[in-house]
Amino acid sequence: MDKITHTSKCEQGSNGSASEQGRATIVFSLKNQIGGLANALKVFQEKHVNLVHIESRKSRQNNSELEIFVDCDCDRRQLKMLTQLLRKQTDIVEVFPARVIQVLVIPDVPGVPWFPKKISDLDFCNQVLMYGSELDADHPGFQDGVYRHRRKYFADLASNYKHGDPIPRVEFTASEVQTWTQVYRELNKLYPTHACREYLKNIPLLVERCHYREDNIPQLEDVSRFLKERTGFSIRPVAGYLSPRDFLAGLAFRVFYCTQYIRHASDPFYTPEPDTCHELLGHVPLLAEPSYAQFSQELGLASLGASDDAVKKLATCYFFTVEFGLCKQDGRLRVYGAGLLSSISELKHALTDKARVLPFDPAVTCSQECIITTFQDVYFASESFEEAKNKMREFAKTIRRPFAIHYDPYTQSVEVLKDVGSVSNMVKDIRHELDTVEDALDRLDKCPRLRGESKDVGGRIGA
Ligand SMILES: [Fe+2]
Repeated sequence: MDKITHTSKCEQGSNGSASEQGRATIVFSLKNQIGGLANALKVFQEKHVNLVHIESRKSRQNNSELEIFVDCDCDRRQLKMLTQLLRKQTDIVEVFPARVIQVLVIPDVPGVPWFPKKISDLDFCNQVLMYGSELDADHPGFQDGVYRHRRKYFADLASNYKHGDPIPRVEFTASEVQTWTQVYRELNKLYPTHACREYLKNIPLLVERCHYREDNIPQLEDVSRFLKERTGFSIRPVAGYLSPRDFLAGLAFRVFYCTQYIRHASDPFYTPEPDTCHELLGHVPLLAEPSYAQFSQELGLASLGASDDAVKKLATCYFFTVEFGLCKQDGRLRVYGAGLLSSISELKHALTDKARVLPFDPAVTCSQECIITTFQDVYFASESFEEAKNKMREFAKTIRRPFAIHYDPYTQSVEVLKDVGSVSNMVKDIRHELDTVEDALDRLDKCPRLRGESKDVGGRIGA
């Protein structure tokens, strides 16, 4: 039976203060044998962690295994310890941290959902909606055991990843490289006439620095290092679709979640989900562009601590810009959306007369239906990334949030501006920066060679 077989509520002691710290959900699978569940639950008891809710069901993957779902009161330190101890239990086959752990810490601002404050907090924002080998029945790889096994390998790499780790290098199979080659070759025929100029500008750099070639799948670690130098963005591997809230939270810290697996070989020109072809060919070239990087981060910052309704609107704006956006260049429409830049058929379609194109307006765009299985009903065009960013900034102001957020690039953290003290600290920082600007202007004023006349001076010297 592939249903939940029992639901129970129980309490096994309390550490008294646990409920003040947060709640976590842990899912693990274990061998279906006598005493297995009791042994696993002893871990919680021994660590004085209060269980709130337990469910179990037979594993979809293996009839001799059970999947256990546990809600408990604990903080992040206890959660980490529980995960480690569960992994040591001999009856336990697997613990799924990246997929299921969600820590709801008591928020800094009453009534506001917990959100990451520093880049390493993203270790707790990995709520993957679709995981590894669990493919839907209509997925091209659903009946391919080898492919499912391979997907599990990639899912485990992503699940075990922690902030600061190098991204594991992957030895891709001949079949995976062949799929990449077909996609790379066909898309590159379209880019010169369809992709925006910022995209085209960065491709030669990726060829040189990250070994973009039709016979080589670039490594995410190389790409991440390259992006870090260009715009401060870094890559974080992910097992599959993330929840919109978690995905947008990554953007706030200039972290882009990337899948590392390749689509199924049976249909190189179709994938029902993002794969590394989509990430590397669709997203990466533009993440190397400062104005686009800034736009992406602002979308992410607007989402931190926002209501579910606001996150949905921001995710829809993300969908119609970062994934399916168009822009006007030299009087013509060009594509900057990664969903289009990685889909041969829709890339062609989006620039034909058949495509309906409206000006990007977040207030309108945020209500548009996102279509995943066929072409979009409508696309939204911006004059530039700068214009899109300014419109998003204005839209973000309409999102009700009882505080503002300030991102500190030195510590890769956000400060919640919720009281006079935090705002006055920020004013001090701005004042210091303005002093630097004033000093620079003073120096320019006193030195004609630095005031813009250096070109002439250089010209005379050259002559
Ligand atoms: Fe994408």
